[in-house]
Amino acid sequence: MAKRPASQYVCQECGAVHPRWSGKCDGCGAWNTLVEETQGDSAPKGLGPGRKGRKIEFVGLKGDNPQPPRWTANMEEFDRVTGGGLVQGSAVLVGGDPGIGKSTLLMQVAAKLAANHGTAYISGEEAVEQLRLRASRLGLSDAPVRLTAATNVRDIVATLDTPGGPDLVIIDSIQTMFVDTLESAPGTVAQVRTSAQELIRLAKRRGFALILVGHVTKEGTIAGPRVLEHMVDTVLYFEGERGHQFRILRAVKNRFGPADEIGVFEMTDGGLNEITNPSALFLGDRDDGGGREAGSAVFAGIEGSRPVLVEIQALVAPSSLGTPRRAVVGWDSGRLAMILAVLEARCGLALGACDVYLNVAGGLRIGEPAADLAVAAALVSSLTGVPLPPETVVFGEIGLSGEVRPVSRTDVRLKEAGKLGFTGAFVPRVRGKGKEGTAARDADLSVKALERLDDLVTIFENDAAAARPARSAS
Ligand code: TYD
Ligand code: MG
Repeated sequence: MAKRPASQYVCQECGAVHPRWSGKCDGCGAWNTLVEETQGDSAPKGLGPGRKGRKIEFVGLKGDNPQPPRWTANMEEFDRVTGGGLVQGSAVLVGGDPGIGKSTLLMQVAAKLAANHGTAYISGEEAVEQLRLRASRLGLSDAPVRLTAATNVRDIVATLDTPGGPDLVIIDSIQTMFVDTLESAPGTVAQVRTSAQELIRLAKRRGFALILVGHVTKEGTIAGPRVLEHMVDTVLYFEGERGHQFRILRAVKNRFGPADEIGVFEMTDGGLNEITNPSALFLGDRDDGGGREAGSAVFAGIEGSRPVLVEIQALVAPSSLGTPRRAVVGWDSGRLAMILAVLEARCGLALGACDVYLNVAGGLRIGEPAADLAVAAALVSSLTGVPLPPETVVFGEIGLSGEVRPVSRTDVRLKEAGKLGFTGAFVPRVRGKGKEGTAARDADLSVKALERLDDLVTIFENDAAAARPARSAS
């Protein structure tokens, strides 16, 4: 009787291998992510006796390697995120929720790049007619992109493994690709990993830039491209709220450029438009009163190499629930809990019985600790009902003892604020340097340097006290 090939269960989130099925992955703690895959090889054999390896040569650190050639798409937002263009022989993973606009973005990139370089777009998701329809909607039908619909990696490798092939190959998406030597279905970790491996190897051999599209779902039901992150040179995430038209392309890993760089786009009927001045866009929705609403603060942040101003909105309201609600959009909820605790413990504000909602306007996700002070300002403003001074930006990190800590690149933040017509700033005090003063004078801003979170609360209390007699007099 033929022996059944051994089965193993692979977590589709993290790739951990389990000998038997269970509801929860021991590796990453995700639920219901194990999928049966047949084992290709039996137990690993090790090197075994007999055959000897070849000696490897070591070299010094110094040497004049030429910079690898880069291909720019002449799309400023895309080129910046890739670190100045796509590198020859490199692999880029573009991840994102389904429907966020990955295919649209890459179709536009392909069309732009095709003006100067051979470009192939291979789709396993859509038929050629659909792709053509999209291209015509984007007004790109005349671009010399080589388009095809294919899913078998063997065919793709056979087609591309010739001299004089394209400079850029886009695979949309890696989850639809399959290698016919594996029994598991397309989209499983084994297939995704093996397909990507073959394509990346080909990219290195033939020297083309490879872009792999990967879907991430919040539920993690489709093989997450997490397992691919280690295999590629660059990982870009395309994010944004479906209801908003803004889309952000973020570099989370880049062997050929800085990580954390972002490119900002706007989804329109005619495809994605580049937004070269994101601050103006994120602040565009504010009313003309200059943010004179309680519970709103403008944060002067840094995304990658660029300053970005965003509005942070807070709503603090008495709760009718035993456990008050804490809801956050666009920021870390753990960080919010910390700020609330510091406000309670160090500044004596009573927030324990309040619902707290925090929102970063425009659909941006902020990861910088420098946003702490802006969040605190929005919270205190909402709690006291006192708006921040008009045209004021806020930034600074908050420590657990209630101190306001300096953050990097104060000058760049202030300069951007000045450029956009802001006139004031709440910033951390830089001890003994007076540095924030110099930067502020350059940017034509009046700054309030804060040492402790108390100082911020005092400003609001004074403003509230000043407002009260005025109101009773009228
Ligand atoms: P798509 O690029 O297909 O997303 P993904 O490849 O990430 O799954 O785009 C999905 C959405 O974008 C779709 O709902 C329609 C919208 N869209 C526009 O708003 N304008 C356009 O010009 C195009 C092509 C798409
Ligand atoms: Mg798509």
